[in-house]
Amino acid sequence: MPKLRVAVIGAGIYGFNHVQAYAWNRDVDLVAVCDFKQSCLDKVTSTFDVHTYTDVKTMFDNEEIDAVSIATPDAFHLEPALAAITRGKHVLIEKPLATTLEDARKIIAKAKEHHVRVALDYHKRWDPAAINLRNELHLPSSGKPIRGYMSMDDVIDVPTKWFDWAHKSSPVHFLGTHCYDQIRWYMGCEVEEVYAVGSKTLLKSMGIDTYDTVQAFLKFENGCYWTVENSWIFPSGFPKANDGRTQILTERALLKADSQNRGVEFYNGSKLRTPNSYFIIDNNGRPFGFGIEPINDFVYCLVNNLPFIADANDGLEAEKIAEAVHLSLETNQAVNIAKG
Ligand SMILES: NC(=O)c1ccc[n+]([C@@H]2O[C@H](COP(=O)([O-])OP(=O)(O)OC[C@H]3O[C@@H](n4cnc5c(N)ncnc54)[C@H](O)[C@@H]3O)[C@@H](O)[C@H]2O)c1
Repeated sequence: MPKLRVAVIGAGIYGFNHVQAYAWNRDVDLVAVCDFKQSCLDKVTSTFDVHTYTDVKTMFDNEEIDAVSIATPDAFHLEPALAAITRGKHVLIEKPLATTLEDARKIIAKAKEHHVRVALDYHKRWDPAAINLRNELHLPSSGKPIRGYMSMDDVIDVPTKWFDWAHKSSPVHFLGTHCYDQIRWYMGCEVEEVYAVGSKTLLKSMGIDTYDTVQAFLKFENGCYWTVENSWIFPSGFPKANDGRTQILTERALLKADSQNRGVEFYNGSKLRTPNSYFIIDNNGRPFGFGIEPINDFVYCLVNNLPFIADANDGLEAEKIAEAVHLSLETNQAVNIAKG
């Protein structure tokens, strides 16, 4: 069977994971990588033998490509997505699908028009702890879910040092959409109503005009209420770049997951580190873990014509919640989410 010819657009922090995953995937021929920044392309070619481009059009004009990963900044998924879709390429888009409902709907409409498939990289759906918790939640013995809590937070280095586009995003888009998707996946239904509070203090004082932290209250169609907390101002001294906690109370069970400390602790002269051994680890140059699995699954589902585990509709539903959360933050009112 011929290999799937794949390209990656956006080869920064996260796009490099896509490059690595494809480079090791036996069903893939990684043909090209595109990024505005030569430094990102140099990093890629120092390890992998692949053609590189600094603009999308030249890449598509010069290469035979079947599918594309898009790992550009949150607010800039639309342009490369449409460039790929209008040329008939299947796409895997990093979360969030977009930072506006308008962009999200444009991507979906174009994909329909060009008979192209769109997958979303909500990697938490591949986290073994999340899968285990979901299986337990869905046992008849657990009964109906009544109340849920989820937090996902990043250290302040993420919006201040990792990249320069935090002001174009928010903890809602960057982190919240992960949670909204994961909770929809747990609940098996949609959010009806949202109320949110948040603060814009610390990052704004540093010249980055975005929320520090947001707390959202979500009412699901099944009657379960969730509190979702997202911030990206945890102190740099925190032992991991991110923190995450889940607690679900059902009629007959209490289910908890802690993704902060997954059992590995490294101590050195300056601080404790608690790396996540299950996310993406380097195994003699080969990336391994639940951060890599969605990328491999994208290939597997395309090659075998199977439905994606997370697709464009999941991206749209999470973006509906994100937009409602932002509207609630601005209006200080509860916001209903319309179906469709
Ligand atoms: N950093 C993380 O931990 C993380 C985790 C999961 C998902 N993501 C998601 O991955 C996406 C990328 O995040 P990142 O952290 O890698 O950002 P980044 O800033 O490190 O990388 C983005 C890259 O895209 C390039 N780019 C932008 N527009 C382009 C275009 N039109 N054509 C070609 N290249 C373009 C930029 O030059 C940059 O190198 C975001 O949507 C983010 O939410 C990031």
